[in-house]
Amino acid sequence: MVVDGGAGLPWGGVPARRPYQGGQVLELTGRTAVVTGGASGIGAGVVAELQQRGLRVVSLDVARGGPAELEIECDVGDEASVERAVAGAVEHLGGLHYAVCNAGVAGMAGVLSMPSSEWDRVVNVNLRGVFLSLQRAARAIRATGEGGAIVCTASTAAVTADMGLVHYSVAKIGVSHLVRVAARELGPFGIRVNAVAPGLTDTPMTAATKDSPAYRDSVISHTPLGRLGEVDDIVEAVLALLAMRWVTGQTLVADGGVTLTSGTDIPGVTAEVLAATQ
Ligand SMILES: NC(=O)c1ccc[n+]([C@@H]2O[C@H](COP(=O)([O-])OP(=O)(O)OC[C@H]3O[C@@H](n4cnc5c(N)ncnc54)[C@H](O)[C@@H]3O)[C@@H](O)[C@H]2O)c1
Repeated sequence: MVVDGGAGLPWGGVPARRPYQGGQVLELTGRTAVVTGGASGIGAGVVAELQQRGLRVVSLDVARGGPAELEIECDVGDEASVERAVAGAVEHLGGLHYAVCNAGVAGMAGVLSMPSSEWDRVVNVNLRGVFLSLQRAARAIRATGEGGAIVCTASTAAVTADMGLVHYSVAKIGVSHLVRVAARELGPFGIRVNAVAPGLTDTPMTAATKDSPAYRDSVISHTPLGRLGEVDDIVEAVLALLAMRWVTGQTLVADGGVTLTSGTDIPGVTAEVLAATQ
C-alpha cells in the first residue's frame, strides 16, 4: 500500500495516488456493514445496494423485513439493545468496516403544544439512537483495525426551519454536528464520518404525502430538479459518502435543490421566463 502521510497513525495513513478505478472507489471485497433501520425505506435500499455490490450486511431494526442477509432486532434508543445487536452483527460478519446509522421516526407538534413525551420519543431515536449506534459501530470498526466509514441520516429539516418539526429538526441538526465531532475523533483510526440530508423522499415514512397532492405539488414546484426524491437518490448519496476517501465530517444535502429556494424570489422571475430571454 502506498502511504502518503500519517504513516505513524495506528491505521497506517491515507493510501494516496491509487490508480483511478473508474469511480469504483468503495472497497467491497470482504467488506461488511451494519445498517440501522434496514427493514424499510432508505435503509432497505442501502442494504440492497451494498449487498448487490458484494458487501455482507446486517440490518439492525425494531421491525422485521428488508433484504439483509441477517436481521437483528434492535431499538437504537436503548443502549443495551444497541450493544447486543452490534456485538451480534460483528460476530456474524467476523468484523466491521461500514455503518449506516439511519433509523428514524417522524412526528409533528408545535412549540406551544408539544408534550415532553413526544419530544423525548423523537429525540431518543433520531439523536440519541444515532449516537449510540455510531458509538458502538465505531468501536467495532476500530477493533477490526482496517479503517472504514460511517454515514448517518440527517435531513433537510436540519437546514430549513419547518414548523411542526422542532423536535425532529433539532435532532437532525444534532446529527449533522455529531458527525463533525466524530470525524475529528475517529479520523486517526481511519474512520470517516459523514451525514446525508435527504429532502422529502418517497418512503413509508412519508406515505401520508400521497394523500396530499397539494403538498406534493408544492414541494415539486419548489424543487429545481422537478420531482420528489426516490429511495435510490438517497442510496446513491450514501454510497458516495461511504466511498469518498478524503471527505469526512460533512453533511451532503440530497434534495433535488429544494433547500436552495426561499420566499424571496422576485415575482415573475422563473427558470422558464429567464430561458425565454436568451
Ligand atoms: N423519507 C423522507 O422524506 C426523509 C427525509 C429526510 C430524512 N429522512 C430520514 O431517513 C431515515 C430513514 O427514513 P425512511 O424515510 O426510510 O423511513 P422508514 O419509516 O421507511 O424507515 C425507518 C426505519 O427505521 C426503523 N426504526 C424506527 N425506530 C427505530 C428504533 N428505535 N430502532 C431501530 N430501528 C428503528 C423502522 O422500523 C424503519 O424500518 C430516517 O432517519 C428519517 O428521519 C427521511
